[in-house]
Amino acid sequence: SAERPLVGRHVIVTSGPTREPIDPARFLSNRSSGKQGHAIAAAAARAGAQVTLVSGPVEIADPPGVTVRHVETALEMLAAVEAALPADIFIGAAAVADWRIEPAPDKIKKQPGGAPPTLVLRENPDILALVARRESERPALVVGFAAETRDVIANAQEKLARKGCDLIVANDVSAASGVFGGDANEVRLVGADGVESWPRLDKSEVAARLVARLAERLGATAEPV
Ligand code: PMT
Repeated sequence: SAERPLVGRHVIVTSGPTREPIDPARFLSNRSSGKQGHAIAAAAARAGAQVTLVSGPVEIADPPGVTVRHVETALEMLAAVEAALPADIFIGAAAVADWRIEPAPDKIKKQPGGAPPTLVLRENPDILALVARRESERPALVVGFAAETRDVIANAQEKLARKGCDLIVANDVSAASGVFGGDANEVRLVGADGVESWPRLDKSEVAARLVARLAERLGATAEPV
């Protein structure tokens, strides 16, 4: 129906940060609250979709009517996304850590007078690019986010091409924007056909508009999975 345009569709959304352990007590992470990704999952459910939300550690509640898979690390997030496929739409709103650390089995001890430890970072898999480049079970629409602090559009266009997704939602995450953790977001939709700038809106409104836009793009063209 016009009000529930995603009935019969499966939507996977990633949200929140990932947490990469350093040792049993410490981790590396980022400032994502999950507000934007969770709002998208809720909006997709309201539009009638069956929704799987793969969430890193966040303090906000699971959205109603959504299947939530709670994960901690990027590797766990990738496994949960792959287990949730196939889907009609994939939306990567999570702030996935680009790097992980080979965790120490015991708490790293501070040595009196000793040098600080060196953390060796290894690259994490790019979940968005792996989903977008799949040969089997590639969702009809693969949507990424781009969190930038400068050259927002140029960086988003570069991510669109490099990761092979259909659309990038670009947002400015410099400290002054208040986007990380805040309730509002100002986004630009960057696609192969151009750039569209939206005003600063509540994250729930960004989510509702994005879901409506994706439902339009999906249209009657692709068969549901
Ligand atoms: O959670 P909030 O506090 O509400 O804040 C929302 C947000 C700022 C986190 C969100 O709007 C946002 O921008 N999410 C993407 C954050 C990010 O990691 O962007 P990026 O430019 O580093 O990554 C680009 C894209 O690749 C993203 O879709 C990301 O999910 C994906 N990615 C990145 C690295 C990786 N290893 N795997 C990925 O899938």
